[in-house]
Amino acid sequence: MKRITSNQVHVGVIGLGLMGTSIATCLIGARCPVTGVELDCSRRKSARNRIRALLADSKREGLLRADPRKLVREFAACEGYESLEECQLVIESATEDLQIKREIIRQIEEVVSRKVIIGTNTSGLPVTDLQRGACHPERILGIHWAEPAHITRFMEIVCGEQTSLIYAQRVLNLARRWGKEPSLLRRDIRGFITNRIFYAMLREAFYLVESGYATVEDVDRSLRNDLGYWITFAGPFRYMDLTGIPAYAAVMRGLFPELNCDTRIPKLMKRVVASGARGVSNAKGFYPYTQAEALRWEKRFLKFSYEVRRLAQKY
Ligand SMILES: NC(=O)c1ccc[n+]([C@@H]2O[C@H](COP(=O)([O-])OP(=O)(O)OC[C@H]3O[C@@H](n4cnc5c(N)ncnc54)[C@H](O)[C@@H]3O)[C@@H](O)[C@H]2O)c1
Repeated sequence: MKRITSNQVHVGVIGLGLMGTSIATCLIGARCPVTGVELDCSRRKSARNRIRALLADSKREGLLRADPRKLVREFAACEGYESLEECQLVIESATEDLQIKREIIRQIEEVVSRKVIIGTNTSGLPVTDLQRGACHPERILGIHWAEPAHITRFMEIVCGEQTSLIYAQRVLNLARRWGKEPSLLRRDIRGFITNRIFYAMLREAFYLVESGYATVEDVDRSLRNDLGYWITFAGPFRYMDLTGIPAYAAVMRGLFPELNCDTRIPKLMKRVVASGARGVSNAKGFYPYTQAEALRWEKRFLKFSYEVRRLAQKY
């Protein structure tokens, strides 16, 4: 079996949806052959074209030198888990559901050897819960990507209660080769780093809108021009260093007791979900879109992602 530290780590990706395909694109761009496993036949068939298109985009934007048509030959999409036998690392990026993911891990363990690392791209399920009942839980860990996964530098490597740090270190090394700037969570916590902070922000954003303090547009505009302006340059701690620390303590004293801590899903969120909105993917969201506008937003987001990556790498 090839060593996990070789340049040519063969990776399995389970679930070829939005993230599975962009994760595969990142890996193939970093010269790791990818075997994808997907239950849905149409997604299995369309995955190669989507990956080729994302690779072509990356080349146009200067992130890749190699020919996307040659690179995509390193990708195969399959239905059965036996195709994962050769993999040294398997990343599951299937539907966010504990039972589905547990079953996937069970099937992976049936076909790979005991040292093969199994990563989960769960957004919010505790890694520790996914380790329960596994044959070799010490090699199971969170590998949390951010969309678009082939462009963003973000990655959180998350240890569950039973994860061995050795495996986490190996994935950290690999992640750097994939062009990521990974963070390590030595202990499992729901939401990891960014989702804990992002969801605290979402709760407050809904509170401001639902209580009539500001509109969706006002909240978006303020955050974009304040937090959005500096956060690619500095995280919150560096930002406090840059802008004076004591004032933050004074604001905390007055503001913390007033922040929303409701544990229910906001009413506005429930209404929007019930209306069938899925955002730009079906041209229905917090903002109204025509099909053409939704497509334009999707493309602009990709273009911006490349530009922000270039900017962040400069500093
Ligand atoms: N979308 C994001 O921005 C984002 C960011 C970080 C993490 N995640 C996480 O990534 C995972 C995937 O999210 P997504 O947005 O790509 O969802 P998605 O719905 O686009 O893709 C999920 C895919 O998994 C497939 N699938 C379901 N069960 C399967 C099985 N047993 N075997 C093989 N394939 C199976 C589905 O057919 C589907 O194609 C979720 O856990 C999600 O929480 C998503």
